[in-house]
Amino acid sequence: MKKPESVPPNPAASHGDTPLWHQLQQVAAVMQKVEAGASATTALEAVPAALRPGVQALVFETLRGLGVGRLLCSQLVQRRPAPLLQALLHSALVLAWQAGAQREDSRGYTDFTLVNQAVEAAKRHPKLRHSAAMVNAVLRRYLREQAALRQAVQQASPQGDPALLNVPDWWLQRLQRDHGPDVAAALIRHGQQAAPMTLRVNARHMTADAYLEQQLRPAGLDGWRQGAYGIVLQRPCPVQQLPGFAEGWVSVQDMAAQLAAPLLLQALPQDRPLRLLDACAAPGGKTAHLLELGDHAVLALDQDPQRCERIHDTLQRLQLPAEVRAVDAAQVDSWWDGSLFDGMLLDAPCTASGIVRRHPDVPWLRRASDVAQLAAAQARLLQALWPLLKPGGRLLYCTCSVFREEGDGQIGAFLSCHSDAVRLPAPGHLLPMEGTGASSLMDNGVAGDTGVTGLMDHDGFFYALLAKRD
Ligand SMILES: C[S@@+](CC[C@H](N)C(=O)[O-])C[C@H]1O[C@@H](n2cnc3c(N)ncnc32)[C@H](O)[C@@H]1O
Repeated sequence: MKKPESVPPNPAASHGDTPLWHQLQQVAAVMQKVEAGASATTALEAVPAALRPGVQALVFETLRGLGVGRLLCSQLVQRRPAPLLQALLHSALVLAWQAGAQREDSRGYTDFTLVNQAVEAAKRHPKLRHSAAMVNAVLRRYLREQAALRQAVQQASPQGDPALLNVPDWWLQRLQRDHGPDVAAALIRHGQQAAPMTLRVNARHMTADAYLEQQLRPAGLDGWRQGAYGIVLQRPCPVQQLPGFAEGWVSVQDMAAQLAAPLLLQALPQDRPLRLLDACAAPGGKTAHLLELGDHAVLALDQDPQRCERIHDTLQRLQLPAEVRAVDAAQVDSWWDGSLFDGMLLDAPCTASGIVRRHPDVPWLRRASDVAQLAAAQARLLQALWPLLKPGGRLLYCTCSVFREEGDGQIGAFLSCHSDAVRLPAPGHLLPMEGTGASSLMDNGVAGDTGVTGLMDHDGFFYALLAKRD
């Protein structure tokens, strides 16, 4: 099946029995927490489970347009509103802005409905009731002056592109410095699209072709094949609906992340089980993939004990064995038994600047100073783990970041002070581009045996493969 051209319908549009005003109250509560520094995932946990998918879709849409929402709010409101009221106004303005730009049938409501429902949300909320008239006045003015406001926003936008307002200034400047203005703009626009749900089929059970043809399609689910093990679903669905999910036939994992295990294993001897280290392993997606591809002895580390539980859960569902330890991988003396590793995966902590479409709160939660702090943590891990690799062994370093300081910059600095390290061919910076699903995967010559055979839809990632001289 071919990838469809159209964007999948917005789940918030089909809000079933829940009126939009009720969802908007929840959205405002979540956005207030995110604007105060909480992650969207944590803030959404407080939303009743039945409402969560619809509220999450609206929160994500708000976050993807928050820069525009803030600018509109500052033009329409003279004094800074209290946090909850401000959160409702930001959400309503972003959603009205989007609704005004799209056909009604693609989202299920017009900008007029949206405004009415936002006013209703205020009227029915004990803390917002007294501000309902103000919400009404601001949003009606937005509707009346929409054309002029659109022009004003466009004029205030970098490169005349309102999408570029939807990341902090430092973020835009860093991307422009790292990749040039056109690629920076394409990366930002890509980050403002909804991500597809991508599966990795467990090679121990069946091929991805067989899973698609014999399991998914008969179950009424559809998608298209990507890479050696991947399937991009036409529509996201709860994992419980995936045939064989509980039995470990399939996992959810982005296409770029699915390159890690094959990249490392293909660079190592194929004829024997290997001793492998996965240094930053939770929740265990790449650990599991390493084990799906061979009977290796894997030591999986993560410094967060709660996240280590998720590695156990992943491995239990897939029925794969590994030793899991909750330790700081850089504190080698606390966990290492003295025997060297054939291969290591270092999927290091990073800014997550490559996975903004799945986590649209990331640009708003990060500060510019986080990049250098995380780069220092990555350098510390590389430095500490390198001596544990056998001569002739391989270390695969990766981050889900598109910032050079966490990719090429990091590896360049490491190579300049480790004369026993050689950089082998690997993708480098994988930059996802807007709309087309096109990417830099092909340009980087990654195709090889990783199964990359065409345009792929993936997150932003960085891979460097290092060999230790014999
Ligand atoms: C990008 S995530 C790993 C994702 C994982 N490899 C997967 O594919 O499912 C990075 C992980 O590094 C862990 N981490 C951060 N610093 C660490 C350290 N010094 N030692 C061990 N783990 C660390 C974090 O707790 C986080 O779970």
